[in-house]
Amino acid sequence: MYGRFKDHLEAQLEQIRERGLTKTERVLTTPQGVEIRTESGAKVLNFCANNYLGLCNEPRVMAAANYAFFRWGYGCASVRFICGTQQVHRELERRLAEFLGLDDAILYSSAFDANGGVFEPLLDETCAIISDELNHASIIDGVRMADLEDQLVEAREAKFKLIVTDGVFSMDGTIAQVDKICDLADRYEALVLVDDSHATGFIGATGRGTHEHCGCIDRVDLIVTTFGKALGGASGGCVAGRREIIELLRQRSRPYLFSNSLSPAITGATVEVLKILGESAELRDRLMANTRLFRQGMESAGFRIVPGIHPIVPVLFGHLPDDARLARDFADALLDEGIYVIGFSYPVVPVGKSRIRVQISAAHTPDQIAFALDKFQKVGGRLGAI
Ligand SMILES: Cc1ncc(COP(=O)(O)O)c(C=O)c1O
Repeated sequence: MYGRFKDHLEAQLEQIRERGLTKTERVLTTPQGVEIRTESGAKVLNFCANNYLGLCNEPRVMAAANYAFFRWGYGCASVRFICGTQQVHRELERRLAEFLGLDDAILYSSAFDANGGVFEPLLDETCAIISDELNHASIIDGVRMADLEDQLVEAREAKFKLIVTDGVFSMDGTIAQVDKICDLADRYEALVLVDDSHATGFIGATGRGTHEHCGCIDRVDLIVTTFGKALGGASGGCVAGRREIIELLRQRSRPYLFSNSLSPAITGATVEVLKILGESAELRDRLMANTRLFRQGMESAGFRIVPGIHPIVPVLFGHLPDDARLARDFADALLDEGIYVIGFSYPVVPVGKSRIRVQISAAHTPDQIAFALDKFQKVGGRLGAI
């Protein structure tokens, strides 16, 4: 039997190759961080990790993981409701809820799982989910906010309505206008879920996320977020929300009920990350200062970037000929110059919108940012991009 299936798979793989869409993985020989090495050679500066606060290799976070590892063991060998809930899991849930400004939180193995487990228990076919998948950019600017309103009108008869949006759109680094979304939600009696995976820990005055940034911290009903980016970068995620919502998810959410507990080491380390964030805004401030430095430097050099304040800085090539090839060649040339970034083109972004997505970290030094700017300028001049 496998022969025929093998042919079928090989044909698909060939198709992916032919369309130039094969994703290759560069293998690191070092821990994740600002300075990394790949199997193919020299040390490079990493400008494409989600390591926004530089915590993925932070000694205090690693020590907390180490402590939790010995205090609570390597693994739970159980789902939460059988015998997989340790005090450290409840502590993390309490701290997450407090940090995010909601009643309670529930842990998942990833934010992907959290998103996969949040809708089915809460809503059925009589309800409407209005998701940014349908109108991704619609929540970004005022003009398109009308699209959201149209959809709310269309969903008028639904028993319950839930608006789902990314807090930060990850290909653009644009921050959703969560306050305006909440206004519409109030007007049309809808609930609001924000996926703040690219915001928790550093967006908003104390890093609580886009709801803090937009001044509507008590108006969002549900937040999904990840521990795999700013909050240490290991893995895991959660849904935070109003008490009854979280209670029902504990009873009914399939990835929670049928998947193993978050490992104690990650759980304990994430508790420590929240303590660090509660002690000072230093990391967040450094990240924002680094971001400003990089954004200003790129604009002065003549690059087109998506404007904003977020450490995701998309460098755009869509206005230049053969933009997909250019983005790829640009990223390859930067790697030769010691800067690790990735070019994105269709289908990850729309046709004609190819880009290099730079991600700034609090762990970058101003010298490293200056070095990156210098290399961008050098390669940009050589490839006719500026
Ligand atoms: C907006 C958003 N939500 C969820 C996820 C998934 O997070 P995790 O890695 O915890 O599954 C990502 C990851 O890239 C993301 O960008």
